[in-house]
Amino acid sequence: MPDISPRPLLMDCDTGIDDAVALMYLCLTPGVDLLAVTTVAGNTSAAQAARNSLQVLEAAGRTDIPVAAGAGTTLRGESRPEADHVHGKGGLGGVTRPAPSAALDPRHAARLIIDTAREAGGELDILATAPLTNLALALREEPRLPELIRHVTVMGGAVHHPGNVSPVAEANIGNDPEAAELVFAADWDLTLVPLDVTMRENLTEAHRQRLLAAGTPVSTLAGEILDFYFAFHEEVALPFRGSALHDPLAAGIAVGEVTPVSAPRLAVTVDTADGAARGAIVADTRGMHRGYPEQPDAHTAVVLETDGTFPELLVERLCRTTK
Ligand code: RIB
Ligand code: CA
Repeated sequence: MPDISPRPLLMDCDTGIDDAVALMYLCLTPGVDLLAVTTVAGNTSAAQAARNSLQVLEAAGRTDIPVAAGAGTTLRGESRPEADHVHGKGGLGGVTRPAPSAALDPRHAARLIIDTAREAGGELDILATAPLTNLALALREEPRLPELIRHVTVMGGAVHHPGNVSPVAEANIGNDPEAAELVFAADWDLTLVPLDVTMRENLTEAHRQRLLAAGTPVSTLAGEILDFYFAFHEEVALPFRGSALHDPLAAGIAVGEVTPVSAPRLAVTVDTADGAARGAIVADTRGMHRGYPEQPDAHTAVVLETDGTFPELLVERLCRTTK
């Protein structure tokens, strides 16, 4: 077990299936001090994502963590299509749960991000596993936000890998390119976890059966909601019944439990033009044949390789009953 020092963390998500699994992982990982959860429209509506988050936190025994809903549209004011075909009706694979006992935090997500950052005195890490609208709104409301944040980890983008909502765009970036552009341009240390690595760390049906057999409230919920996600992946994205681990892998990297094999600092921008490449990230990988020499002004580490051991660690963690 690696030594993980306590980290104040806020997760901004669009709680579909993989966000939910990431949230479970964070609740069960020693040394993670999850201070707040904020939600945005993406896989489902912001309100439904907040409700899903409360239900997941309840299964993990963490009704004390505040959850606030945020942006329902993109920065340009467009509605986003929900992703029922990926995450099922309601975002959790069609699995229904009792109404959450905890109430929603009344603040807008952007406000809760700013308040939590101030209270954490410069120590807060942010994990964003959804369109970046809430973070962009928080930056607009508090331009000094980067000074209050220790590190930002974003699941999103595709560097050498195809996109998943267009030939070149990944969902979290493609669903609000203007927001992503603002977040990438802000002056904070950022780690980007793109499809290049999240598509390669896979859960299998054997993992899912272990989760169900463990029979804890968290492992059972994980096993149940993953059923729908596996069916989607088998049909569309993987040559076997299983799933990618987008948001959980980003969570593992955010808390320092997964150390990337390769994560060069690269200049990253987003294509915001209304053309075929809208929502694609443009990462300057021209140094790849020389081992990615440091790009002096780049403040974004782009994860290009991990070692494939995270699925096993994740399943073991989700089967625990306590941290
Ligand atoms: O492209 C993968 C991302 O899109 C994940 O965050 C998933 O939850 C969806 O939002
Ligand atoms: Ca997500």
